[in-house]
Amino acid sequence: MTAHKEKILILDFGSQYTQLIARRVREERVYSEIHPYNYPIDKIRDFAPNGVILSGGPAGVYETGAPLPDPAIFDFGCPVLGICYGMQVMGKILNGKVDASSNREYGRTRMTITNDADLFRGLEATPGATLDPDQATGQALLTIPVWMSHGDKVVDLPPGFTLMAKSSSAPFAAMQHTSRRLYGVQFHPEVVHTPAGKEIIRNFLFHICGLKGLWTMKSFVAETVAEMAERLRGKNVICALSGGVDSTVTAALLNQAIGVNLFCVFVDNGVLRKKEAARVVKMFTESMQLNLIPVDAAARFLAKLEGVTDPEAKRKIIGQEFITVFEEAAATIGGVDYLAQGTLYPDVIESISFRGGPSSTIKSHHNVGGLPEKMNLKLVEPLRELFKDEVREVGRELGIPEDLIQRQPFPGPGLAIRILGAVNEADLAILRDADEIILEEMKTAGLYTQVWQSFAVLLPVRTVGVMGDGRTYDRVIALRCVDSLDAMTADWSRLPYDLLGNISSRIINEVKGVNRVVYDISSKPPSTIEWE
Ligand code: XMP
Repeated sequence: MTAHKEKILILDFGSQYTQLIARRVREERVYSEIHPYNYPIDKIRDFAPNGVILSGGPAGVYETGAPLPDPAIFDFGCPVLGICYGMQVMGKILNGKVDASSNREYGRTRMTITNDADLFRGLEATPGATLDPDQATGQALLTIPVWMSHGDKVVDLPPGFTLMAKSSSAPFAAMQHTSRRLYGVQFHPEVVHTPAGKEIIRNFLFHICGLKGLWTMKSFVAETVAEMAERLRGKNVICALSGGVDSTVTAALLNQAIGVNLFCVFVDNGVLRKKEAARVVKMFTESMQLNLIPVDAAARFLAKLEGVTDPEAKRKIIGQEFITVFEEAAATIGGVDYLAQGTLYPDVIESISFRGGPSSTIKSHHNVGGLPEKMNLKLVEPLRELFKDEVREVGRELGIPEDLIQRQPFPGPGLAIRILGAVNEADLAILRDADEIILEEMKTAGLYTQVWQSFAVLLPVRTVGVMGDGRTYDRVIALRCVDSLDAMTADWSRLPYDLLGNISSRIINEVKGVNRVVYDISSKPPSTIEWE
């Protein structure tokens, strides 16, 4: 792991917003890591945080089995900020009183700052802030909009704490213990619905923890390249390049660190998009000057896929064939010690989730079919501390072209899972042409980077149409376009009708064999993004 000068530890109590806290902190150029609520105190000591944030969570502090941290966290010496459930944990452990509230407060509310609080400095100019006379004293007090989402609440401060803010349903909306540098807020500063949230987090990081915000993607690149150069000196590293952002940035970083000792393998598996293989090879060799080993294995993959209709069988065949091709490439190179992978932070976070159990499972497609064990290779994952937007920033630092950085995700099994039923060259040609039109039109409309994915699916049905004087009996293309943050959930994109019209008429006019286009208006769940 890179040595970071300034670090915030986030203990996760299961809130849906925990990752958001980490991102907000990182946006202020302070490195942050998420760990489960019961992260052992000696590990915390090793991590040496400059501040700790306790996340929210769905539990109640008095429930049996309620998640509680090691109380030593409050005597650890660095500032601690408890958010929502995190504040209630602080209230309970430090002998305040927390009430299981019968009326759950959820949504936007206004909070009045009652005391000069370090956390609430300089909020006068934030959106929605007003100065209102206090009903009891007549004194003008600052009131700000905040986002609440809690059942339980602190109803009696722990000894030594001062009340800092109140709201109509939470008379103890914020508290602090000045000398111990402990802070609790009942609302969520990390969500956009708390307009002053950014300032509040900045106050915690810069005024309370005394940080400067030194973590930039520029410093990340410099540190990572130096560290990789040291660790991988004299070693051969192999990297599977897919043409996507993560593997490209991984390769670019390692290229800076070890140059020709990095061997990038790009496999044309026959189910790539139109002109993709040529585009990728040109960019990797010409603009990025990678040590690239292109492998044209299209015929092999398509032969293995012939007649196969089951989606999982297609995935398995493509995965297995990829491993075979990759192993052959590695054998040709010889003496390979490491496998580089573009694993990202969301895949390694060991956070807790009360809904679906531990959410630490590594997505199987990131771990190229168990390759490292099979080939007896050590793993190198230079992006495992980064969120996707940070990876893009690193890519820009490394001079990777913007259109590659902004690329939408593309599945490993490629067009094979977008041709329903058996895959053949003729159908691939239809799908490629339709897909290219969607890509062009989305880019022209300025929406390509606004949506999560936009692509074509070729359906195995024929429908009747009329073209000129004749009757047609041709195929159907489904347009799939979704908005999503992480592909776990997704909603169909509300594309403008005119754009839908353009895409449809271009596909029907320009792609031979298609006479109908439909738009998929299903969300995930219960549907999935891909059709297979
Ligand atoms: P679904 O269809 O499960 O897709 O909603 C979620 C995201 O994952 C991508 N996807 C895959 N990526 N191998 C991959 O590398 C696969 O087998 C695979 N299946 C789906 C999909 O494009 C979407 O971004």
